[in-house]
Amino acid sequence: MIGLIETTSELRSWEEAQRLATALVNQMSLEQKVNITTGLGVGHARCVGSTSPVTNPDFPSLCLQNGPLGMAPAFNVTLGVAGINAAASFDRKAILDRGIYMGQEFYEKGVHVQLGPAMNFMRSPEGGRGWESFGEDPYLSGVASYETITGIQSQGVIATAKHFIANDQEKNRNEESSNIDDRTMHEIYLWPFARAVDAGVGSVMCSYNKVNGTSACENDMMNRVLRDQLGFQGFIQTDWWAAMETIQSPNNGLDMVMPGNRDPKDNFSPSYFGQDLVNAVKNGKVSESTVTDMAHRIVSAWYKMGQDKNFPNSSINVLDMTPLGSINVEADHKTKVRELGAASVVILSNQDDILPLSESNNNISIIGSDAFSDPLLFNVLKCANFGCDPATLVQGWGSGAVMFPSYIVPPVDGIQARAGKNVKFQTTHDNWNLDEAKKVAQASDIAIVFANSDSGEEYITVDGNAGDRNNLTLWNNGDNLIQTVADANKNTIVVIHSVGPILMPWINHPNIKAVVWPGLPGQESGNSLADVLYGDVNPSGRLPYTIAKNQEDYAAAATSDLEIDYSEKLNIGYRWFDAKNIEPLFPFGHGLSYTKFDYGSLKVKSNSKKNQVNAQLDIQNTGEADGAEIVQLYLSFPESAGEPPKVLRGFEKVFVKSGHKETVCFELTKTELSIWDVASQSWVIPHGQFQIHVGASSRDLRQTSSFTL
Ligand code: NOJ
Repeated sequence: MIGLIETTSELRSWEEAQRLATALVNQMSLEQKVNITTGLGVGHARCVGSTSPVTNPDFPSLCLQNGPLGMAPAFNVTLGVAGINAAASFDRKAILDRGIYMGQEFYEKGVHVQLGPAMNFMRSPEGGRGWESFGEDPYLSGVASYETITGIQSQGVIATAKHFIANDQEKNRNEESSNIDDRTMHEIYLWPFARAVDAGVGSVMCSYNKVNGTSACENDMMNRVLRDQLGFQGFIQTDWWAAMETIQSPNNGLDMVMPGNRDPKDNFSPSYFGQDLVNAVKNGKVSESTVTDMAHRIVSAWYKMGQDKNFPNSSINVLDMTPLGSINVEADHKTKVRELGAASVVILSNQDDILPLSESNNNISIIGSDAFSDPLLFNVLKCANFGCDPATLVQGWGSGAVMFPSYIVPPVDGIQARAGKNVKFQTTHDNWNLDEAKKVAQASDIAIVFANSDSGEEYITVDGNAGDRNNLTLWNNGDNLIQTVADANKNTIVVIHSVGPILMPWINHPNIKAVVWPGLPGQESGNSLADVLYGDVNPSGRLPYTIAKNQEDYAAAATSDLEIDYSEKLNIGYRWFDAKNIEPLFPFGHGLSYTKFDYGSLKVKSNSKKNQVNAQLDIQNTGEADGAEIVQLYLSFPESAGEPPKVLRGFEKVFVKSGHKETVCFELTKTELSIWDVASQSWVIPHGQFQIHVGASSRDLRQTSSFTL
């Protein structure tokens, strides 16, 4: 393991990096500058994307590799928790640590640019790639993006904030136009990108879709909004084959075309940049200074991360994928995966304190294919990019899926290892043999039944789902399996591995005592689950999205319309349920603990001259177990502001020992107290009475206090 930088403060400033870049780029010819902006094309690239190298002056071929939860494709790397689980931890430090270990792995393999984090929204629960990102709330997504990018870049690797912007479903992703008004765009969809810029992100990837009628990679939002309003200093690369032409894109701010060849069906086809861009400059359609700026921004990001200083040679070669000789960069990262896996398990319900399991639970059944491993998971040909669902689900499918390391801990192994030899286990993994499931469930004191629901990227279809989910029901006969087990055993625990919300027709079954939601936990799945089931880790995961009673309750659905009007405007996710008075099944921010927390009285101080608001309260652990509470702060704006009833504006994970109390403090920034004013194109604090609510979920508010600005 190479000991690397711990924080971004040791990275160069943008000013310093830009000064160095100017000195280098000034020595380059037009052709050399264009080379830096142009991918080599799939037929020549050793990485998922590789830029053309330049000599005399020298600038290397940059290696760009997926993805948001770890390196793909690559051997001997860590398959960590998905972005949606990072969000479910509501744990800044753990999310930062995840970014750091990912950055270490990319650095050590000589990858200059990590193609992550993904920062799109779970606007509709069916959206195929929602699991790669951070859920339905802009504030939560903003924090998770900031910490992830800070972590990755602290290791000298350029992070990529993707996909810019409003690429929130897979259906017709190349043709659809996401139509969004300016205020909604700023308050919701741009919010995490603004936090990414705050973190000094080196790259942004423009998306496949159109935005208000213009392709994202040709859209003037790149310069006008991302650069001029948010102050983005890095470079913009296309999503793969998202560039469609040579002139609008660079003129509106695009810097790099990926993977280079223009025709996805012809790996050696020419590029829209390359010679075409040189010609466009010669014909006066694009100015040379635009091309200079493009190269300059790429070179600046490279200098900023210190990649001029002994950056390891890239050991990636996607043209010849063989594990032989592939360096192992996993180190002890699996301990981080296990910790974050446990920290992101959400306990949705827990009746009669059936959880945590104890020594006296010595006759347990484990039922359902989702509890087991399967050789198919390791078959990179038959289950390429994880486009199969034969066994336990630890990630979704597509370019963001990481190849399995040499092992995976399925739930059955994790639970049995933790339970020890004195516990009798009976198991069945056949979801369609309901007679067997019933027999096994009846023969045990506690039945743990597993089921899952999967989704991914549109280029792979699994069980008839072309990326987006066709519906929100469980896969592989899951609902019937759960019903059968619950009918047969009065102590049934349901465990769901899912990319997002599902429908739960069995939720009121009297024998279902607990519902456990580990999301997509990565390679240490069984261990992190056992940590929580047995109370070695007191659960503190919280839902980063709303689980509704009915599919129609959601504000939006994945659609085949080519004009997608974001007509719910600011009311994404829980805000819609609040605004329309719809009771969710499990609200955003919900998750149970094995202990109890009391919320002391909330003190709010506001200074209207300085636009400062602070809130403070004590959290007391009144239960038997030590544990962490996720204290959530929601803000209600004055009515005249036209905001949703309340919006998340803060959270803290606070660890409190049993019988003790801790003080939690929040400070709201000007932007967090503002709405986007379209007329002045700026953040404006509305005048009037605000309310701060602090609670344990979006529907479990314990304290409220008002202030006036
Ligand atoms: C397309 C995906 O949308 C993007 O996220 C990924 O990084 C590229 N392909 C490269 O695989």
